[in-house]
Amino acid sequence: MRLDRFISKCTTMGRAESTKKVRQGNITVNDKTITNPQTKISPDTDSIYFNDKKLVYKEFIYIMLNKPMGYICSTKDDKNRTVLDLLPEEYAAREPFSCGRLDIDTTGLVLLTDNGKWSHKITSPKKKCFKTYIVTSHEPLTKEDMTQLEEGVMLDNDDKITLPAIIKELEDCKYELQICEGRFHQVKRMFEAVGNVVVALHRSSIGEIILDLELDSGKHRELTAEEISYFK
Ligand code: URA
Repeated sequence: MRLDRFISKCTTMGRAESTKKVRQGNITVNDKTITNPQTKISPDTDSIYFNDKKLVYKEFIYIMLNKPMGYICSTKDDKNRTVLDLLPEEYAAREPFSCGRLDIDTTGLVLLTDNGKWSHKITSPKKKCFKTYIVTSHEPLTKEDMTQLEEGVMLDNDDKITLPAIIKELEDCKYELQICEGRFHQVKRMFEAVGNVVVALHRSSIGEIILDLELDSGKHRELTAEEISYFK
């Protein structure tokens, strides 16, 4: 990999600024100052410093975010704040995107990455990745409603019933729902299909990745190697 590309991947500096810093003699590779930005380096074995800071290269980034209300999961929007506004600047150059979307008023687990293949394993309906939601409804569900939701319901404006789901009552008007599809407003529309209304929605897990309870609303952390491996 070229030295200037490596630097732009590991820092908040773009390519032009990285090139300038190399030319100005701010970069050492294995203790030698290198001033040619096109120098080929090996990200795994070379020891590269920007002044006193060791630069560590990651091929991809993987982030868990506890999404608050009021943010959308797009990468750009003229009207609304996006989940990217909650991440520090250092990630911007990696152009992360969210693996699937939560509505503006839904809270909880969002995974962000710059690895399209990894994200596909989460979002592709063929992969049957179960997502868990904590749903607060306006009315309690009847036994029949719960059976219907588990067996599949026809959503407004769709032509196929939903795939089998798992639902558990947590308390009055509070349920844990697991679904492996990601249709538009799916949970809200499933509850509408049985004559109910969702008043609050929170995602607590995606596959085996569980929202870290140490993460306050709006906070993020990188995934562990084990968490990343669930979708490898
Ligand atoms: N289903 C919904 O209705 N909204 C979400 O944000 C996620 C799933």
